[in-house]
Amino acid sequence: MNHILCKGGMPLQGSVKIQGSKNAALPILAATLMTEGICHIRNCPKISDVYSMLYLLEKLCCEVKWDLEGVRIDTRNVRKCEPCKDTFSCMRSSICLLGALIGRERDLTIESPGGCVIGERPINLHLSALEKMGVQFTFEESKIHAVHHGLHGTHITLPFPSVGATENVIMAATLAEGKTILKGAAMEPEVRALGEFLNACGAKIRGAGTNLIEVEGVRNLEAATYEIPTDRIVAGTYLLTLAGCGGNVFLQNAPAKDMKAVLEILRELGVGLELSGKGIFVQADGHVKRIPFVKTMPYPGFPTDLQSLLLTVLTVGEGETILEETVFENRFKVVDELRKMGACIEKIDERKVCIKGVECLRGAGVKALELRGGAALITAGLMAKGQTRIQGVKYIERGYENICRDYKELGARITSG
Ligand code: EPU
Repeated sequence: MNHILCKGGMPLQGSVKIQGSKNAALPILAATLMTEGICHIRNCPKISDVYSMLYLLEKLCCEVKWDLEGVRIDTRNVRKCEPCKDTFSCMRSSICLLGALIGRERDLTIESPGGCVIGERPINLHLSALEKMGVQFTFEESKIHAVHHGLHGTHITLPFPSVGATENVIMAATLAEGKTILKGAAMEPEVRALGEFLNACGAKIRGAGTNLIEVEGVRNLEAATYEIPTDRIVAGTYLLTLAGCGGNVFLQNAPAKDMKAVLEILRELGVGLELSGKGIFVQADGHVKRIPFVKTMPYPGFPTDLQSLLLTVLTVGEGETILEETVFENRFKVVDELRKMGACIEKIDERKVCIKGVECLRGAGVKALELRGGAALITAGLMAKGQTRIQGVKYIERGYENICRDYKELGARITSG
């Protein structure tokens, strides 16, 4: 797929099923390497980041097979090998292979995942936590060598609740000797999912999904079946699009219990929500109420991954909003593209913008530069008068199974080519 064409200005109607969570699936797929046997990962999203992770697993001699319910990973023939530079650099989340492999390898060389368009994305927190468990790191150009003589449990306090560092500590601690206590852990539902998967394999993890996690090391793990939870960010993307376009929609399987901060903002925007165990009914008239100030925060705060979507919805209507990004330092890339569509957004500083509502957005040619900003451009296209052509679709495919199909099911005028 090269580009997406949207004709905006139509309310959305119908029902759409929410896919499995990207950020839960990626570390869990990596963690299958810690087991020996065949793991069945159900509800695994079919997105390009998952395909990249599976490619990496295949390079490590896992056998990968899709079936109707998900993907089976056979780890019985995993052998030591160095994952290649190309795959590491194409996917930032390959860093979770460090925690997954370090328990079974006493020396390991990986490629540094490097920064990306939304920020520098250092891994200092991952490295210093693993050092406390007995790993020594040396660096050579873009390579990171990790050596240890047996991992040991310890007390670790993260100065910032990094999702990736929390996941790496959980994985390393699972196969370490003794008990690890992690304070200041990330509380994202995806961390909880990793804990659930590893516990299903025989790990002894308590508190995953809270800021205090305890892991009692075990000798080995069995393969297990696990169902990936639905994607709260994809559900949030569609909810915010509804807020901008208006309509009546049922989001099947949307994980409302993990979306409190997002649902609170949607209610402030004037969106009607009805929650059930099976999903979320949404009703919106397309006129958003103004919120004066919003900032992104680690979970349970408003997620950085939905910041560009919220920003897009707030481009239309009366009044101003200050939006602050506290998690990543470079997550306003979408602003220049939205300006091409008539949005009035002023950058106050690197972390803050002021959005001044305009009457409507106009269709234009725009380019996705990263995943969530790309999804936000589709939302803008569906809100706008006229036709919008979005390039850079490969970024959107990293996290959304088939965003065109989903919006089409809701009656949107959207095509891909
Ligand atoms: N950070 C450090 N040092 C570290 C680790 C993180 O300074 O060692 C900083 C980062 O630079 C960033 C902040 O801490 O400014 C948050 O990083 P975190 O480690 O929490 O994020 P991550 O694990 O790299 C995951 C998701 C992101 C999501 C963030 C925050 C995956 C695969 N990725 O990234 O998802 O935005 O948590 O919730 O789980 C996306 O889906 O588009 C996406 C970017």
